Amino acid sequence: MIACIFDLDGVLVDTAQYHFLAWKKLAAELGIDLTLQNNERLKGVGRMDSLNIILSINGISLPEEEKERLATKKNTWFTGYIDAMKKEEILPGAVALLDALQQSGIKIALASSSKNAQTVIDKLDIRKYFDAIVDGNMISRSKPDPEIFITAAMQLNVSPVDCIVIEDAEAGVEAAKAAGMKCVGIGSAATLSKADCVVDGIGMLNIDILNKL
Ligand code: BG6
Ligand code: MG
Repeated sequence: MIACIFDLDGVLVDTAQYHFLAWKKLAAELGIDLTLQNNERLKGVGRMDSLNIILSINGISLPEEEKERLATKKNTWFTGYIDAMKKEEILPGAVALLDALQQSGIKIALASSSKNAQTVIDKLDIRKYFDAIVDGNMISRSKPDPEIFITAAMQLNVSPVDCIVIEDAEAGVEAAKAAGMKCVGIGSAATLSKADCVVDGIGMLNIDILNKL
């Protein structure tokens, strides 16, 4: 492994729960119950794509203008949760892993579909670990398209085969594999079956485990 590429929401910090809360609240306003199972399909996917998935599951079609209004509303709730977030909400083991990778000379990138990613990393005070940051503002196709991971590898100046991606989303694992990278899934082995290995949380990872992949 020459480089390690981290997803953000649900990997380094549990902002995935805030995305879920905000989407659930928006869905409720539309008379929809957003289940945890359907929420899995939203993880890693861009904001408007997520709204389109919610609407299509429920057979709803809306004008673009209305969809923009709803997506903005969801984002206002989400950024409210982020404003109240504490630095200590970084997931256990995340800083130790970032530290160990940096000290071993392994390049580190962040590849998040979120347009709020820069705000979140500053809130957590972890910008210093990243040699490259690619977020939702810099890509044209969100995960499961490999664009974001290929862009991160190019910015790090490393080949995709030398990269390991850490992901909690099915769409993210698919994107990493499509980019020709190794991928560690964080979460359920059933949902993340395409990952090279799956662990419960980032705290279970260390450089030895990553090097053996
Ligand atoms: C991803 C999250 O990181 O970012 C998704 O997993 C989210 O749930 C996506 O929809 C886009 O985020 P944002 O902050 O730009 O709405
Ligand atoms: Mg994620």
